[in-house]
Amino acid sequence: MCGIFGVITREEQTLGPTLVEAARRLAYRGYDSVGCATVAADGSIDLRKDVGRIAEVSDRLGFPEMRGLRGITQLRWATFGAPSQPNAQPHLDSDGDLVGAHNGNVVNNVQLRELFIREGLTVRGTNDGESCVHAVERHYDRNGGDMLAAIRAAYHDLEGDYAFVITQRGDHRLYAIKKGSGLVAGLGEGMTCVSSDLPSILPLTRRILPIRDGEIAVLSPEGVELYDVRDGRRIEREAEWYDGPIEAAEKGGYPHFMLKEIHEQPAVVGELLHLLNGSSHVERFLQAPPLPRERPVYLVGCGTSYHACLLGAYYFGQLAGRLAVPLLGPQFNEQCGCWVGPGDVAVFVSQSGETKDVLNAVKVMRERGGQVLGVFNVLGSTLMHESDSYLPLACGYEISVPATKTFVNQAVLFLYLAYRLAGRDVAGLDTLPGLLAETLVATDAAARQVAEYLLGWEALHYLGYGLTHPIALEGALKLKEITYAHCEGMFSSEFKHGPLSAVHDGYPVLFLTAPGDEAMMISHVNEVKTRGGHAIAIAAEHPALRANVDDYVVVPAAERALMPILLTLPAQLVAYHMSVQRGIDPDFPRNLSKTLTVD
Ligand code: AGP
Repeated sequence: MCGIFGVITREEQTLGPTLVEAARRLAYRGYDSVGCATVAADGSIDLRKDVGRIAEVSDRLGFPEMRGLRGITQLRWATFGAPSQPNAQPHLDSDGDLVGAHNGNVVNNVQLRELFIREGLTVRGTNDGESCVHAVERHYDRNGGDMLAAIRAAYHDLEGDYAFVITQRGDHRLYAIKKGSGLVAGLGEGMTCVSSDLPSILPLTRRILPIRDGEIAVLSPEGVELYDVRDGRRIEREAEWYDGPIEAAEKGGYPHFMLKEIHEQPAVVGELLHLLNGSSHVERFLQAPPLPRERPVYLVGCGTSYHACLLGAYYFGQLAGRLAVPLLGPQFNEQCGCWVGPGDVAVFVSQSGETKDVLNAVKVMRERGGQVLGVFNVLGSTLMHESDSYLPLACGYEISVPATKTFVNQAVLFLYLAYRLAGRDVAGLDTLPGLLAETLVATDAAARQVAEYLLGWEALHYLGYGLTHPIALEGALKLKEITYAHCEGMFSSEFKHGPLSAVHDGYPVLFLTAPGDEAMMISHVNEVKTRGGHAIAIAAEHPALRANVDDYVVVPAAERALMPILLTLPAQLVAYHMSVQRGIDPDFPRNLSKTLTVD
């Protein structure tokens, strides 16, 4: 998803390397185009941008040599307008006096472009980031050159959720506005900066100033001033010191970030459990207000995070006897948005903390007076600021587009909360990191062999029963994301209600099985086998199950509640190996983005 970064310094300098590093650190969000603009002391603007990977475009266009007092870089993931050089960002205004870039969606982009063209502005592309620049240009030209007033006026013209950064060649300040998309400022020595998220700021400074929706940040080398976009009032807010890690996005010897992140899972689970055991946030989370027994708790997320919510609902039900309702973000609004209210509690789960579909649901919950509990990985994210109470996932950076370690920690977090609600001793979870490490060793070779079998198939199914149902959905999503095969994940007993017709000679069906469900699964296996299907079990060793399937990926034996988490790892490995065997880069699959800040 698009990411923006802007920096302003006291002395003119070679800003290119800073901009390229910032772009590199925003890259995990996903992008198809990249651009940089610098403004020199004499007011000249140097703008370079194109479609392609950062390293390639940077080498070709010479980003590292770009000099100036102010700089902007932007990574674009196409929504309005195809990926192309004119649509790449940053954008100039008609006369080349303003340069700016955005993240998000301006939903009235088509109408605005028509208006700008009618008014004689020079519109070069079809991208809505360009509309942000022209929207400011119109008012700036009319009001005699007051940037703050022009941005405030443009805010009323631009519909949708976005953040943008903009500067004027003769005005030694950088301006940024936040409306729905992430934006944070950093204050360093003789420089300040602003970005879509923290990772691109932390190498420059740890003094962080959060920016809220409806605020304009005015950056100078000496500091950042905040203004309310509605009335122009100055807002006073102290910067905060960020103490967290500044990990570099390195592969650490692994061929892909995905494989590195899969192998980090035992360690991040250990860290999360450590954090939860000593955290006052857990008490606040469980008691503010007490997760009500008489009402359901809503667990809301999208994609992989939704699958964690589904697993959380099974955990809450089976372990704690509590009704939890898993919902997609937009589904929450459509299904519950008109009646939830004070006394209702929803847990909103998002790795990035920026997923628009989830934040829209948070907004509805807040408006209706319900409690917002947040679970996210990215500290400083919008979800963190919008939550009444929150728990971080403590995974460190997840760079690869397919979520792996964040899913596992979401699952562990729900399991931990279910244990707490059930009054069970959470010490029972301390075996998890060791079991996960064993699972990686025990299943990698078998997962690779399964991937070889699947290689020739363009359609397949993943089935799970009860607790393993969410893992079937997650295993199927991983396969779809990074192998481009069509894989459907289902509750295994549903398979006979229609999809069974897909089965023919050799058709692959993977069966994820938790201890206690083997007898049921053997029935479902045989419905497939008798029709010529190829059954692959992923489960702890079980002789009867083994006797009924064609292939078996054995995971270490463990308590039933832990098994969905262990089974996730071979499912990730199958997808990873198949992706690599197909010559696909699993870290950056086509058309996908890590952070989806659009509807
Ligand atoms: C997971 O592999 C996907 N990249 C995607 O489904 C993701 O989980 C979804 O977009 C939600 O993202 P979030 O957790 O950042 O909200």
